[in-house]
Parts: sequence; C-alpha cells; structure tokens
Amino acid sequence: MKPRTLSHVVLSTYQIDVMMPWYATFLDARVVIDSPVFKAISFDDEHHRVAFTKLPEDKKTDRSRPGLVHVAFTYPGIHALLRHYERMRDLGHKPIVATDHGLTVSLYYRDPDGGNVECFVDRFTSEAADEFAQTELFRKSAAGMDIDCEDLLARMEGGASEEALMALDEEKLAAVDLQETVKRHSRAMFQ
Ligand SMILES: [Fe+2]
Repeated sequence: MKPRTLSHVVLSTYQIDVMMPWYATFLDARVVIDSPVFKAISFDDEHHRVAFTKLPEDKKTDRSRPGLVHVAFTYPGIHALLRHYERMRDLGHKPIVATDHGLTVSLYYRDPDGGNVECFVDRFTSEAADEFAQTELFRKSAAGMDIDCEDLLARMEGGASEEALMALDEEKLAAVDLQETVKRHSRAMFQ
C-alpha cells in the first residue's frame, strides 16, 4: 500500500511565536491553526503543510530539541491505511501512537534513527477540514482519541465500508482529556 502524497512536516521550537510567522511569510501561507502550543499553516488546499509545536522550556531532554518532529504521508483511504498497518505489523513494526484527530486518523511510527513518521487518512474534503479546524470540538480534542487498529482491521475484514470505519464519534471525541492525551503522546513520541 503506497501513500497518495507527502502531506506535511511538523517542527518543534522554543519560539513558536517567531517561527510560525516566519514560515508563513516565507511560504506565503495562511494560518489554519493558531493555539499557544500548536500552530499550523498551509499554502494550498491541504489542511496543513507546516506545523509547529511549542517545546516546554522547563523540560529539556535529548528529544525535546528544536527541529523535525515528524513528516506525514497521506493514504488514499482507511482501508489502505489499515492494509499498511497490517503489512508493517507483520514485519514487526507497530505504531507508537494510533489516534483519531477528528481531522485525520493517524498512525505514528518510530523510524530506525528514533525519528517519528506519521501516516494518515483525511476525514474531510479540504474545505470541510478548514472549517472543522476552527471548531471548538477540534480545539478541545486535537490530540485525538486513541484507536484500536486490530479492531478496525477486524471490522474491515468483516466488510465494513470506508464510510463506516471513518464515521466520527463526536461525543467520544468531545470527551477526550486533552492534557492527559498530549502528555501520553509526548511520552510515546519524545522519550
Ligand atoms: Fe502530522
């Protein structure tokens, strides 16, 4: 299963308020997500092309240094993403984080050098994605709700359609404990 395209890069930084506007100017891009700890810009119809996460000043570890957080590849659909999951699982590679961000369903893997790489599927068209990124629901739950790939794979094998597997459980997403999820994902990805 091949990705459809290379989607975005995420950079970590101690100066998010300087980095984001610099890149927005550099790429002639628009701001799509602008929170104190996470910002994202895009120069075309992709929901984000470059994103920035704020590094905590007080917790300097080897992995919390400015630079690349991850690159992300878009898959054509959830079936393709799950086939990719299955192939990598059979080769002995499991995601370190598997989560439904609302905007995307994303799997993050650790590469052999210790870097992170994301593969994901979009839930929305680009216009609807821009709208969803502005909602209170997204602001409160952007870290996403964790998903069980084995369960999704079993449902797919049982005949579940793309639409059925991508149906958004807004209630469950709204119940996400953002702080706890961000902490847990950060531990998985950066320690
Ligand atoms: Fe990403």
